[in-house]
Amino acid sequence: MEKVDRKAAIGVFDSGYGGLSILREIRRVLPQYDYVFVGDNARAPYGTRSFQLVYEFTLEAVKYLFEQGCQLVILACNTASAKALRTIQQRDLPVLAPSRRVLGVIRPTVEAVGEISHSGHVGVFGTPGTIASQSYNIEIAKLHPDFAVSGHACPMWVPLVENCESDGDGADYFVKKDIDALVSMDGEIDTVILGCTHYPLLLKKIKQFMPQGIKVVAQGDIVAHSLADYLRRHPEIEEKCSTGGTCQYLTTDDAEKFGTMASIFVNETVTAQKIKL
Ligand code: DGL
Repeated sequence: MEKVDRKAAIGVFDSGYGGLSILREIRRVLPQYDYVFVGDNARAPYGTRSFQLVYEFTLEAVKYLFEQGCQLVILACNTASAKALRTIQQRDLPVLAPSRRVLGVIRPTVEAVGEISHSGHVGVFGTPGTIASQSYNIEIAKLHPDFAVSGHACPMWVPLVENCESDGDGADYFVKKDIDALVSMDGEIDTVILGCTHYPLLLKKIKQFMPQGIKVVAQGDIVAHSLADYLRRHPEIEEKCSTGGTCQYLTTDDAEKFGTMASIFVNETVTAQKIKL
C-alpha cells in the first residue's frame, strides 16, 4: 500500500451524512483539490457505539481510502476523531502507511475556540460517545488550561437530522431541552461548540433557542481553514493531493437515498456509489 505514491484525492470520512457539512466548507475554501467522501451510513450512528467498534469501523474506512490512493484522510466525524484518531495515528499508521496522514476535527476546533470565548467558559454539544470520551475537555485543558468546559450529550439530534426532521416540531422540543440542560450547567458559558458534524443542520433551531450573547461554533469553516494551513505547512503532503476539483461520493448503504440526503447537506445534486468496507 505504501509504495503507491501517485497524486490522489483527499479522503473525507464520516459515519453518515454529517461529514458533508465539513466537506462543503473544505471544498469552498480549497476547491482546487479532488475529494472522495465515504459515509458509513449502513453502520451509522457511531455516537452510541463502543470505543472498540468505532475504532474498528473507522480503521476500515481509512484503509479503504488508502487503497483508493488517498495520501491524506480527514475524519470529518467527532465521534471517530474522539475514539479512533489517536490509535490510528500512533499505532496503525506507522505500520500501514508511515508517509500518509489522518487528521481529525477536534484539535482545530479547540485551537479556534481560544480566540472566540472571552469568558473562558465553553459548552460542548456532542454525541454520547464524544461527550463520554472527554476529548474536548482533554484537548481544551492542553491548549487553554484556564478554561472551564461543560459537555452535554444530545442523543436525539443525529437521528433527527438523519431522518429529515431538522425543521420539525420534534427538533424544537429536543433542541430546547438540550440547550437548557447545557446552559444550566454553567451560567458563564459564552461559547458553545457544535461537536458533531451533523449539528450544523440544526443550526436554525439552535440559534432560535440559544440564549442571547452565547456564540455558537460550527466546525466546517474552522476545519477548512485549518486544513488549508496544514497543507501550506506540509508541502510534502500537499504535493500528493491531486487538483482536478472533483468530488466522489461513496456510501455503505443505499446510493440513491444517500444522493437525496447528501444534496441537502452540500446544496448541489449528488450522485453516489455504494461500496463495502
Ligand atoms: N457525525 C458524527 C460526529 O461528528 C456523529 C454521528 C453519529 O453518531 O454517527 O460525531
